[in-house]
Amino acid sequence: MKENNLKIKKLVNFGPSGRAVAQPIDNSLLDNIFEHLTMERYANVQYFSIYLWFQERDLNGFASHFLSESKGEMEHAQKFADYLIARGQSVKLDEIPAPVQDWDSIEDLISYSFNMEADLTSSLQQLYSISERISDTRTNVFLDPIIDAQTKSEDEFANILGKVKFASNQPSAILLIDSDLKKK
Ligand SMILES: [Fe+2]
Repeated sequence: MKENNLKIKKLVNFGPSGRAVAQPIDNSLLDNIFEHLTMERYANVQYFSIYLWFQERDLNGFASHFLSESKGEMEHAQKFADYLIARGQSVKLDEIPAPVQDWDSIEDLISYSFNMEADLTSSLQQLYSISERISDTRTNVFLDPIIDAQTKSEDEFANILGKVKFASNQPSAILLIDSDLKKK
């Protein structure tokens, strides 16, 4: 019986957090996931700051859109953290840069947001190709729905940017976009 117990113990690998690990995460993939987690947390704070910017200007449709984006980014960060925990890792949180709070125009701000989404997509694609290269199928399967949702986010921001560009800073047009966003 004792021998049997010893055998069972030897068969299981434990990760840095002390949880059982079926397949350890490759170090370079792990570093990239940590970097991605920081990007999601930065997006959370950046969108929260944009929410405040619109709220201060009584553009409540834009404000509520960015508040929900901010919450969405925190959910993404949580997903990655939970995934790391499921893979037996302990989650270290890096410092995040201060958000941009001054904008010359709504178009600048939406362009910045669009670029941030595009950077998040590139980072996810990088994670995907590393996972494929090292045959970490669990990570590829985890990333599939996230990449799909990320592509939709890009499309959404491209749509808002298109409208804001077309409005070219005319208050009445901006107010129409604002009320459109309020309905969503
Ligand atoms: Fe995200």
